[in-house]
Amino acid sequence: MRDPKATNIVWHQTSINRTDREVLLQQKGTVIWLTGLSGSGKSTIASALESKLYQLGKLTYLLDGDNIRHGLNTDLGFNEKDRTENIRRIGEVAKLFVDAGVIVLTAFISPFREDRDSVRRLIGDDFVEVWVDCSLEICMRRDPKGLYKKAKKGEIKDFTGLDSPYEDPENPEVIIKSHEQDIEVSVNQIINYLEF
Ligand SMILES: Nc1ncnc2c1ncn2[C@@H]1O[C@H](COP(=O)(O)OP(=O)(O)O)[C@@H](O)[C@H]1O
Ligand SMILES: [Mg+2]
Repeated sequence: MRDPKATNIVWHQTSINRTDREVLLQQKGTVIWLTGLSGSGKSTIASALESKLYQLGKLTYLLDGDNIRHGLNTDLGFNEKDRTENIRRIGEVAKLFVDAGVIVLTAFISPFREDRDSVRRLIGDDFVEVWVDCSLEICMRRDPKGLYKKAKKGEIKDFTGLDSPYEDPENPEVIIKSHEQDIEVSVNQIINYLEF
């Protein structure tokens, strides 16, 4: 955790707490953190998972890479320092949602192990790391946004899998082989892990 710049700030105790909200919502605040290469299927699976959770009566919120970079993180690029700050802020936002009792789904490449582990430490037991494990070759073939094509032409620098590393998760709660199974199977795999 970083030390605040400001001094003389005191945490204010609220009258309604996380447990009260969780009782109201009949669910537990959780972060489902999808990590994997660009094109591995994070956004696709997160979106399908969110629909399924909605049908099950769960309150969710999806934080997705590009959307966050349009707003909260518009000042950040893709060098190592900015990527780390990107994930740190997402982690803090996710923590607020968890405190609100919401099931947060996140879909960020989040290539660095230490950054993901920092979020895990921040969230604690309610952090579920889902590795969307898809070979670089398949991701490049899918290339849903044409980004690999651009990166290979040198039009994008620091592209994960090409000239910026992706560090495989060591102990993720769920591993999804998105090039071997249908989206629905992947969604069910996560739902089964959550044990509703
Ligand atoms: N089994 C599968 N699971 C997930 N995505 C798949 C699968 N098969 C094909 N796709 C396609 O792969 C692409 C993944 O893109 P996207 O979800 O945007 O990836 P990411 O968010 O990880 O960058 C989509 O076009 C999706 O339709
Ligand atoms: Mg995406």
